[in-house]
Amino acid sequence: MEVMRLVILSRQPALYSTRVLVEAALARGHQADVLDTLQFDIQVSKRNPELFYQGQPVGHVDAVIPRIGASITFFGLAVVRQFEMLGVYCVNESQAIARSRDKLRCLQILSRHDIGMPPTVYTRQAEHVPSCIERVDGPPVVVKLLEGTQGIGVVLAESTPAAASVIEAFHGLEQNILIQKFIRESNGSDIRAVVVGRRVVAAMRRQAVAGEFRSNIHRGGKSKKIRLPADYRKTAQAAARVLGLRVAGVDMIESKDGPMVMEVNSSPGLEGIQKTTGVDVAEAIIEHIERELRPPAHRAAPASV
Ligand SMILES: Nc1ncnc2c1ncn2[C@@H]1O[C@H](COP(=O)(O)OP(=O)(O)OP(=O)(O)O)[C@@H](O)[C@H]1O
Ligand SMILES: [Mg+2]
Repeated sequence: MEVMRLVILSRQPALYSTRVLVEAALARGHQADVLDTLQFDIQVSKRNPELFYQGQPVGHVDAVIPRIGASITFFGLAVVRQFEMLGVYCVNESQAIARSRDKLRCLQILSRHDIGMPPTVYTRQAEHVPSCIERVDGPPVVVKLLEGTQGIGVVLAESTPAAASVIEAFHGLEQNILIQKFIRESNGSDIRAVVVGRRVVAAMRRQAVAGEFRSNIHRGGKSKKIRLPADYRKTAQAAARVLGLRVAGVDMIESKDGPMVMEVNSSPGLEGIQKTTGVDVAEAIIEHIERELRPPAHRAAPASV
């Protein structure tokens, strides 16, 4: 394998996920630059897309690993897209990141495929709420902010009036919400499977603290390495494939009807999964890039003209 110049798009070089990616790249003999997504200038003119970093042409790049935070999605996606315009291999493409970034769009796309998910309704109409709750077998129901993370904005509403008042409050704050069937039998746990290429490389179960239904580590949840049953592995792989993600963190809940995908993350955090499972996910990502960029052995070299 020839030495590659890898660019990790990240605003936080000191972050665990960024550091292990750099370490894995260097360990395999590559060059790895952590470039701050917001320091790029995107320039376009006739037949000539260009990209400048801190005012200088970005130069030759073999592959890009985007780690785009939610707060800079718009510009971050534009930078990834510009690398694509320049013909640079991006581990996750801008379109795929955009699909997963929006929880509604993500579940809409997955819903055309044989991929389990909790029945979910999106509504903007307060007067539709009681019938929406019934259609997802509630109450109780889970009400979620479309933009929430770390379990913030995820509420278990025990009754229809309780759900209605939570939804009214969220709508009053101009927040989009979803109403989701409460999967009681998951018992406050969920599964995170990390997909690299077409394979699940690591999986863990997160368990909420007693009396809490949200398993987020930020809410005190504990994680444990697991061996993923085949149906969960297939669901995670299918979700990543349908969204076009080559690196993905697929969050699934265990229901009596099998795996249900709650969410798919295009920049899964590496610290929790690596420390819990002992799997070097960063190395798997670098190896995946090597495989993708290696010229296929069976194809003859293009004839020179
Ligand atoms: N429909 C549901 N039924 C039962 N438990 C649920 C359901 N939805 C979510 N939970 C629990 O609540 C936790 C948080 O929900 P979710 O992952 O949807 O939001 P979040 O973690 O705030 O968002 P993000 O994953 O985008 O950071 C889940 O990990 C799961 O343990
Ligand atoms: Mg979550």
